[in-house]
Amino acid sequence: MPDEPWWKSAVIYQIYPRSFADSTGDGVGDLEGIRRHLDHLEWLGVDAIWLSPFFRSPMADFGYDVSDYCDVDPLFGDLDAFDRLLADIHGRGMRLIIDWVPNHSSSEHPWFIAARSSREDPKRDWYFWRDPHPDGTPPNNWKQAFRDAPAWTLDPTTDQLYLHLFLPEQPDLNWGNPDVEAAMHETLRFWLDRGVDGFRMDVIHAIGKDPALPDDPPEVAALPHSSLNDTPFTHQLLRRIRALLDSYTGDRMSVGEVFLLDTAKVGTYLRDQLHLAFNFPPLFTKWRSYRWAKQLDDAAAYIEPNGWPTWVLSNHDVVRHRTRYGSEDRARAAAVLLLGLRGTPFLYMGEELGLENADVPPDRVVDPGGRDGCRAPLPWDRSRGHGWGEPWLPFPPDAAARSVEALRDEPESILHLYRELLAQRKASPALQLGDQERIEVADGALAWERARGDDRRVVAVNFTDEAVAVPNLQGTVVVSSDRLGEGETFTGTLGPDQAVWLRV
Ligand code: NOJ
Repeated sequence: MPDEPWWKSAVIYQIYPRSFADSTGDGVGDLEGIRRHLDHLEWLGVDAIWLSPFFRSPMADFGYDVSDYCDVDPLFGDLDAFDRLLADIHGRGMRLIIDWVPNHSSSEHPWFIAARSSREDPKRDWYFWRDPHPDGTPPNNWKQAFRDAPAWTLDPTTDQLYLHLFLPEQPDLNWGNPDVEAAMHETLRFWLDRGVDGFRMDVIHAIGKDPALPDDPPEVAALPHSSLNDTPFTHQLLRRIRALLDSYTGDRMSVGEVFLLDTAKVGTYLRDQLHLAFNFPPLFTKWRSYRWAKQLDDAAAYIEPNGWPTWVLSNHDVVRHRTRYGSEDRARAAAVLLLGLRGTPFLYMGEELGLENADVPPDRVVDPGGRDGCRAPLPWDRSRGHGWGEPWLPFPPDAAARSVEALRDEPESILHLYRELLAQRKASPALQLGDQERIEVADGALAWERARGDDRRVVAVNFTDEAVAVPNLQGTVVVSSDRLGEGETFTGTLGPDQAVWLRV
């Protein structure tokens, strides 16, 4: 689409590198594994890849604890492997965005090792250090994520506590120190100069702390503090990050993880700040028409005035939506919904296979946040190892039947449905960039029209397992979640769990 930045019409596919493809047989995915499987993504029709962290890391939080922002962890390859991957992605006309983790480093980052070595160290102020209260309690009531415990850990060498909104192995960087800001800008430049098309920015809403580090209000004091942060300082920092990205040619972009479960607040991170922001209320919304109606209306009310929406059903932090919604039929309808919405859709690797969360027995649990089930490796083929060495996590259920190889052989599979949706979306200006207007239909269903110029599509989704009459919807079926009746005139009734795109 000329005149519009690529990321507005793109479908972006998230790869969790540990679990995508293993080229070495060590049971952990790697960059070369990704490169060797780009055919799958090209065949599927995705426009861009978001790669979760592959940087040097002690892996306390599986890569979201970075000990060198400008290098590849040997587990995943090296910078040459990264350059080869990026060149191959670009050679196929796709884009690459990478994860940037600016709120905290690893406790093994040289910056933190220096900071904790002495109270006088020049890097001391790159992190947050405080004395406990006289009664020994922590400096404030903030809670860390994943555990019911304070966001503070005592460092015995210098006898002060440091702040960490996540694990103790993830100390928070002090963006109030201009040297931190400059150093982190350098890490962006490092990857921009290498040619990446943008960044997914981890817990970006938390980077600008109020230097007073005030207590959380009592009603939320039991929640992880990262989900509450929203300071004017963060917005200032984001404007400077935006200026940096925009100083490069080629539409470099940012998509921020603004983990505030309030769409109105998410909207305030756009305009001259982030290019895109994840809006997570839909991710936590039940499969009910009236709840989704509210999500569409909220995006229109709060995101649209400031920027362009995004839509996500699954990622590496939450139970897969195939499991949450409870059936393959709903997962298929959800794909028709997701790819029919106005905004940039993000797919999480494996949703195109209809993968469920893996069952992870207690002795194989590795993640401190209990998220292993959605991070299970992608099954590539029907063979016993599904294309992997002994994998770091168990496979999702029915891995042979759900493998890429098996589903490609089945023309009616969810994999082919995704491919068809992506192709139809790419062929339709209305679906890619068109306006969106809701159409009132019977309870249990949701419908909207997308329009751009002469191109018009109607999207209709039945959220129930009974047929719903929608007599006011007319058109020719372009795609149906059950793949029946393509090219036919729509009958005015949505079957159980059926979702359709109609050409009007
Ligand atoms: C959000 C990431 O998606 C999650 O995986 C990680 O644990 C936290 N941020 C901390 O970096």
